[in-house]
Amino acid sequence: MYKLIAFDAYGTLFDVYSMGELAEKLFPGHGQALSLMWRDRQIEYTRLVTMSDPNPEGSKYYLPFWELTIRSLRYVCKRMGLNLSGENEKQLMDQYAKLSSFEDSLNVLREIKNRGISTAILSNGSREMLATVVESNGLKSYLDQVVTIEDVRLFKTAPQAYELLLKAFPVKKDEVLFVSSNAWDALAAKWYGYDVFWVNRLGHPFEEIGEQPNYEGNSLSKVLDVI
Ligand code: LAC
Repeated sequence: MYKLIAFDAYGTLFDVYSMGELAEKLFPGHGQALSLMWRDRQIEYTRLVTMSDPNPEGSKYYLPFWELTIRSLRYVCKRMGLNLSGENEKQLMDQYAKLSSFEDSLNVLREIKNRGISTAILSNGSREMLATVVESNGLKSYLDQVVTIEDVRLFKTAPQAYELLLKAFPVKKDEVLFVSSNAWDALAAKWYGYDVFWVNRLGHPFEEIGEQPNYEGNSLSKVLDVI
């Protein structure tokens, strides 16, 4: 039934958990809080940029996700009173560039391809950072396309960001299954009109607004059961 399975990148195919471990090594006692606040601030910056100028030609406040990730790290360290040296920043960002994929990511993509269904990433990430993380995890040959919002300079959850999949593939809305571990991303994709699979590895509640996801599972592999 689905012709395209599209995945969010960070947190969905790639494990951002390791960032907390490195942050803990660099700032003992603060790693977990730092990584959570970092992630929140990073996403908040994407929303600020997009909502403050939701121009279909792209937001004039646009900065690449890589840059927003650095700026949010700097902000959070200042906010927490942690001294982020140039060396610390480089270490954290080097690790971010080469995040590991989840253990089932490759297998799931390969199996979807084996079933004759197209695969893609749809991410807020910048083109270069996505290319690096896809290649370092050996996923390149299992992805038909890596679609980045860099083309519209509006981050998810702008509809123009989700629409990119329909421009990149000859598919209709109801032939797309969008997979994300971020509840907000799954919800927005659902609002856009895709069927969605929410990967809920931590047993969190779904958002309290909007519609429920079409599917939910505690690992990426569960996607294979619904396609
Ligand atoms: C992404 C972030 C939102 O890859 O996880 O788009």
